[in-house]
Amino acid sequence: MKIELCMGSSCFARGNAAVLEALELYASQHEDCEIVLAGHLCLRECSKGPNIRIDGELCQGLGPREVISRLKQLQESKP
Ligand code: FES
Repeated sequence: MKIELCMGSSCFARGNAAVLEALELYASQHEDCEIVLAGHLCLRECSKGPNIRIDGELCQGLGPREVISRLKQLQESKP
């Protein structure tokens, strides 16, 4: 699963710093999940941020708890 976090200043300040921390912790506790974290430049959706992409799906305005929850949903729906 590839997770791209917008590391632009707006998204970082709006919550992606905390999202990154939560994802790093989650990935370290679930090594079997094959999570790849990547940073991204500003996605030009600043006002809707923080923005992340999970396997290409743009997710906007989610905090750490919501991101982890969405991640679990996607993992559970995989065959
Ligand atoms: S800083 Fe993230 S969309 Fe602009």
